[in-house]
Amino acid sequence: MLDRTTIARVLYSVSRSDPAHALQILGETDGIPESQRARLTEVLESGESSVETARLLGDALADEGAEKDIINECYRAAFYLGDRWAELAENPLYSYFLANRAGGVLHKWPHYFPIYHRHLERYRGRPVRVLEIGVYRGGGLTMWQRYFGKDAVIVGADIDEAAVRAVDGRFVVELGDQADPAFLRRLHDTYGPFDVVIDDGGHTMQQQIVTAETLFPLIAEDGLLIVEDTHTSYWPAFGGGLDEPGSFVAWARARTDDLNSQHHRDLDRSSVWARQLGGVHFYDSVVVFDREPRFRAFDEVAGGSSYILADQVSERFAVESSAERERVREELAAVREQRARLTAQLARVESGQGADALEPERAELEDALRHARGERADIQSRLASADQRDAEQTAALAAVHERLAASEERLRLLEGSVSWRVTRPLRAVRRNVGRG
Ligand SMILES: C[S@@+](CC[C@H](N)C(=O)[O-])C[C@H]1O[C@@H](n2cnc3c(N)ncnc32)[C@H](O)[C@@H]1O
Repeated sequence: MLDRTTIARVLYSVSRSDPAHALQILGETDGIPESQRARLTEVLESGESSVETARLLGDALADEGAEKDIINECYRAAFYLGDRWAELAENPLYSYFLANRAGGVLHKWPHYFPIYHRHLERYRGRPVRVLEIGVYRGGGLTMWQRYFGKDAVIVGADIDEAAVRAVDGRFVVELGDQADPAFLRRLHDTYGPFDVVIDDGGHTMQQQIVTAETLFPLIAEDGLLIVEDTHTSYWPAFGGGLDEPGSFVAWARARTDDLNSQHHRDLDRSSVWARQLGGVHFYDSVVVFDREPRFRAFDEVAGGSSYILADQVSERFAVESSAERERVREELAAVREQRARLTAQLARVESGQGADALEPERAELEDALRHARGERADIQSRLASADQRDAEQTAALAAVHERLAASEERLRLLEGSVSWRVTRPLRAVRRNVGRG
C-alpha cells in the first residue's frame, strides 16, 4: 500500500488539477503491488474533474484496505474542491464549526449539519431543554447553546470525569453511564423533560438502544431524539455488523413496524413506540426519532371528481326536493284540516244541529254581502256618469265635423273665383319672402 506521504502528494497534485504529476509520483513509487498501481493509474487517468478524481481515489483506496483517515482525506478534498461547501456555509451550525478556531474541540461529520438544522431549527430561540450525551471537551455544548439561544438549558452527560473538568462549570455535566437506565431517568427527573436528546456518547449497540428505550418515552411530547454515528451498527468492535440483528440500526428499523402497527393484526399497537412515535428518519450515520402522540390513522376522501359529478348533483336535488316535499306536505295538512272542519259543519247543518254555532259565521257573511252591495251601487253610479260624459262628447264632436264641412265648401268656391287665380304670383312671392 502507498504510504501516507505519497498519498498526500498524489492528492495534492489532483487538487491542483495536475493528474500528470500525480501519475508521475505513482510511477516513481516502488514497493507497491502492480495490481494496486494499475487500479490507481486507471483512477488518475479516468477522473473528469479533480473533484471526481479525489472521490474515486478514496473509493479505490477503501477497496485496497487503506486506513480510514487516508480515505477520509480523499473525500474531504473532493468536498472542498467542489461547491457543496458553499451551500453548506449558509448553515449556522456549519459556519460556527468552521469559525470555531480557538473554541473547545469539536469533532463532527459535516453532513450532519444539514440534518441537525432540518430537525432542530424550530426549537431555536425557545426555552428548550437539551441533553447531550457524550460531552468530550464541551465543544458541542457551546455550539448548541449558541444555536438554540440564551433561553435554552443545555445539559451534558459523560462517563469521563475529564469532560466535567473541561467544561469547568460553564455547563451542567452529569457523570454516569448512558447504558444505565437509572442514570438516564435521574437526568430526566432532575433536568427534564428534555425537548431534544442528542446521543453522541459511546456508540455501542447496547448504549444506543438502552438510551433510546429509556429516554424516548420521557422526552417532551413534540421532542426528538437524535442518535449519532450509527455507522457503528456495521462495525463488530461496537457490537454491529452487516445484517447483525442486534445492531442499533436493526433495532431502529423495527420501529418502522411500530409506525405501521395499525396495519397488521400481529403488530403491537399499545407500545409507547406505536403510540408516540411520529416518524423515524434514517440518514448516513444518523437516526432521528420524532416524538408525537398519534391518533389512529384513517382515510377519507375530499375533492375528487364526485364534486361535480352525478353524486353531488343528485344529492343537491335530493335536498331541494325534500324541502319542496316538506312544504307541499304542510299545505296538504292545512287543506285536510279545513276540509275536515267543513265536513263537520256540513254534517251539523244537515242534521239541523249546531245552528247556533253557525250564527256568527252567518252574521259575518251578511255583513260581507252588504258591503259588496254598496260597492256595486257605487260602481253603477260611476258607470252612469261616464256614459253621460261620453254622450256629451260625441255630440260636441259631431258639431265640429259640421263646421269643418262648411269651411271646406267655402274654400272650394273661393279657389274657383277669378281674383284668386290673378293674385297667385303675389302669393308665391310672399311665401318665398316668408321662408327667407
Ligand atoms: C464523540 S465524543 C463526544 C463529542 C461531543 N459530543 C462533541 O460534540 O464535541 C464521545 C464522548 O462520549 C463519552 N462516553 C463514552 N461512553 C459513554 C457512556 N457509556 N456513557 C456516557 N458517555 C460516554 C466519552 O467519554 C466521550 O467524551
